[in-house]
Amino acid sequence: MRIAVTGAAGQISNHLLFMLASGEVFGKDQPIALQLLGSERSREALEGVAMELEDSLYPLLREVRLGIDPLKVFENADWALLIGAKPRGPGMERSQLLDLNGQIFQEQGRALNAVAARDCKMLVVGNPCNTNALIGMENAPDLPRRNWHALTRLDENRAKCQLAMKAGKFYTSVTNVAIWGNHSTTQVPDFVNAKIAGKRAPQVIKDDKWLKTDFTPTVATRGGALIKKWGRSSAASTAVSIADHLRSLYVPTPAGDCFSTAVITDGNPYGIEEGLVFSMPCRSDGDGNYELINDFVIDDWLQEKIAASEEELKKERDCVGHLLPNPVNDPVCRITQDTMLPGEN
Ligand code: LMR
Repeated sequence: MRIAVTGAAGQISNHLLFMLASGEVFGKDQPIALQLLGSERSREALEGVAMELEDSLYPLLREVRLGIDPLKVFENADWALLIGAKPRGPGMERSQLLDLNGQIFQEQGRALNAVAARDCKMLVVGNPCNTNALIGMENAPDLPRRNWHALTRLDENRAKCQLAMKAGKFYTSVTNVAIWGNHSTTQVPDFVNAKIAGKRAPQVIKDDKWLKTDFTPTVATRGGALIKKWGRSSAASTAVSIADHLRSLYVPTPAGDCFSTAVITDGNPYGIEEGLVFSMPCRSDGDGNYELINDFVIDDWLQEKIAASEEELKKERDCVGHLLPNPVNDPVCRITQDTMLPGEN
């Protein structure tokens, strides 16, 4: 399996690459090649990462290829883990960040379209990940649209942890936790359908106020809380959640459970506008693919919150219309300060 990774010299990759090489993600019988994309600036660091991988003597790691040209690095890739993106700089408008990172994903989408394996799967981690995935997808017309994912598994893991702690249970008893929408502060961690030890979460945590006014913002702004403590974005827990995301596609989803991933809304059963990359509950047969789960209960609370996240993603989409081959509306940016990454709260 050929796995391309961008931002390969960064903090997230520094955790992730060793998990991939050890076989704990794709299995102990799956040899892998790592194709690592860096930048001119990170070339030396990338060589350092490769040296550490070599020195670890992983029996499944058969090749490490380094480069700064996506057209070379993405060649024949079966997976592209698109982690690299520019952080928002001081005084930078939200629309500028969308544009700056959007240009990276426009180039990478085109490169994947040209040289990746025809069934390549993509996971976008670099923020704003939903809209970056949309840009990549729209610029890769020959690759399956449903193969594009944006990472919301970190949000799911955060939600499970909060529910488990509040209920006084171990996190393994918390299941069926979906994240809806954007990986931003409008994301909707779904406590309505979540289960704790097999019961609906609100039947176990009988505290509606906590669920609505504490749990939801705590999960949605966890990235920012962590930046305040740590001085930088989450790296280890992001890498763990990427590994969880990938494993979810290669291990059959247990009955009555789900995993969250932001994927194309085309044909979704919840009435969410088509053509957006939106986090929804999914299941897998373990063959690398997924299907949307279609029977989640959407009460008024969820409906309203999901609609707000949908609205935000529509604004983001319109703001990057100049990077899409077929923009839905005239490219007009209506983005205001109200659209925030988890780290920007
Ligand atoms: C996170 O959720 O930890 C990150 O997406 C935060 C950020 O904005 O970098």
